Amino acid sequence: MVDVILGLQWGDEGKGKIVDFFAPAYDVIARFQGGPNAGHTLYVKGEKVVLHQIPSGIFHEGIVNLIGNGVVLDPVTLKKECDKVAAFGVDVRKNLFIAERTNIIVPTHRALDKAAELAKGDEKIGSTLKGIGPAYMDKTGRNALRVGDLLRADFQEMYQKLKDKHQQLLNNYGFTEDISEWEKEFFEAVEFVKSLNIVNGEYFINKKLAEGKKILAEGAQGSMLDVDFGTFPFVTSSNTISAGVSTGLGVAPNKIGEVIGITKAYCTRVGSGPFPTELFDATGEELRKIGNEFGATTGRPRRCGWIDLVALKFACMVNGITQIVMTKADVLDSFKELQVCTAYEINGKQTDEVPYQMNKLPLQPVYKQFAGWSKPVSACNNWNELPAEMNAYLDFINTYLGVKVTYVSNGPGRDQIISSR
Ligand code: GDP
Ligand code: IMO
Ligand code: MG
Repeated sequence: MVDVILGLQWGDEGKGKIVDFFAPAYDVIARFQGGPNAGHTLYVKGEKVVLHQIPSGIFHEGIVNLIGNGVVLDPVTLKKECDKVAAFGVDVRKNLFIAERTNIIVPTHRALDKAAELAKGDEKIGSTLKGIGPAYMDKTGRNALRVGDLLRADFQEMYQKLKDKHQQLLNNYGFTEDISEWEKEFFEAVEFVKSLNIVNGEYFINKKLAEGKKILAEGAQGSMLDVDFGTFPFVTSSNTISAGVSTGLGVAPNKIGEVIGITKAYCTRVGSGPFPTELFDATGEELRKIGNEFGATTGRPRRCGWIDLVALKFACMVNGITQIVMTKADVLDSFKELQVCTAYEINGKQTDEVPYQMNKLPLQPVYKQFAGWSKPVSACNNWNELPAEMNAYLDFINTYLGVKVTYVSNGPGRDQIISSR
C-alpha cells in the first residue's frame, strides 16, 4: 500500500519532520507534486537541514527516495541539495531515483514567474518565484521538457525551441534581465542530473508494491494551496491533495492506504490570499516569534493566526484523512487563552463550509475559546502527561473533524513527538 503524509493548511505544517519520523517504517519515500517552492525542515544529528526537492527519507540508510513524475524539478536546486546531503555521508547515487516523466524547470520559467508576478502588481500571488506556475503551464500546455529528454541527443534543440517560445512571452512582459548566468548553471546541473538514477517511475513503484514494499508519499505545500480546492487564485499550480498521489506517481487510487494529515496547533500562511483567522495584533506577533515562523524557502515572515476548523474539516474531506498529526503544540505553551475557529460568518449568516472564493466575501471567523495549558507540552514525554487543557482542546477538534489527532509534535527534533497509542 501507499500511505500518504500531506499538509492540511497553507503549507509549512512540519511535513519534513513528520516524514523523517515515520520513514523507518517504509521502504520507499516519494514526492508526488510541487517542486523547489517546498522547504521541508528536518534535524539530522542535531543539525538543521531544509530539503526542497529530495524526499525527506534521504537520511535513512536503506530507504529508497523517489522524485515522482508529478514533481517539477529544477536541476540547479537539485544539484545544490545533493551536495548538501552528501556532506552528511548520503550517497544519492544509491538511494535517490528520479522518474523520467518528471517535468523540468528551465531558467526562463523562473524569469516568467518573476515577470508574471510583477505584472500582477497588488494582486500578486506571493509566489516563491521558483518557476512553478510556468513549469506546470508548460506541462498542461504540452510544451514541457522532461527528465527523460535530458538523455536525448537533440535535447539542446528542444531546449532552444522552448526558450524561444518563452522569450516571446518575456518580451511581452518587457522583461529584460540577463539570465545567461542561470543558463550556465542550468546546463552544468543537467550534466549532473544525467549521472543520477533516472527510472521509469510508474513501473519502479508498482514493482515495489508487487514485492510487498511499503511506500510513503510525501506531500508538498498544503491542501488549501491545491490548484483546484485551495483559495484560488492564491494557490500553487499542482494538486496537493491525496488524489495527486495517483497521477503524481502512477499508482492506482485503490493502492492508497492511510492518509495522514498534518496541521499546526495554530495556523500560518506565507504569500498572499485569504486567511480568515489571521491575527494582526500582538498575539499574532507572539506566535511568529515563538514559532519562529519565517519561510524555509524564502525567509519571508509567515502570517499567523488561530487554528481554523472549517478549513481543516474541508481538507479532511477532500483528502480522505484517516489520522492527524498536530505539530508545534509547544508553541502555544505560554498562551493564556486559545481560540478555535468553528464557523465563518458571511453577511450575518454562519456557515461551517468553505465558500467559493472567500477573498471576495466579507468573512468573519466565529471562535470558541479554550484555556491555555497549565503546564508546558514541550516537557511531556507521553500522551498521559498531556495537560488536561490540551486534552480538552484535542477532544473538541477530534469531534468537530470526525478524525482523530493520533500524534502531537512538541518540538522540532525527530524524537519530539508523542503518540496516542
Ligand atoms: P514543512 O514545509 O511542512 O516541512 O514545514 P517547514 O519545515 O517549512 O516548517 C515547519 C517548521 O517548524 C520547521 O522550522 C520545523 O523545524 C519546525 N517544527 C516542526 N515540528 C515542530 C514542533 O512540533 N514544534 C516546534 N517548535 N517546531 C516544529
Ligand atoms: P511547503 O512544502 C508554504 C505558497 C507561496 C505562494 C503560493 C504560490 O514547504 O509546505 P508558488 O511558488 O507555488 O507559485 O507559490 O504558494 N507556497 C508555499 N507556502 N509552504 C510551501 O511549501 C509553499 N509552496 C508554495 O508562498 O503563496
Ligand atoms: Mg515548508
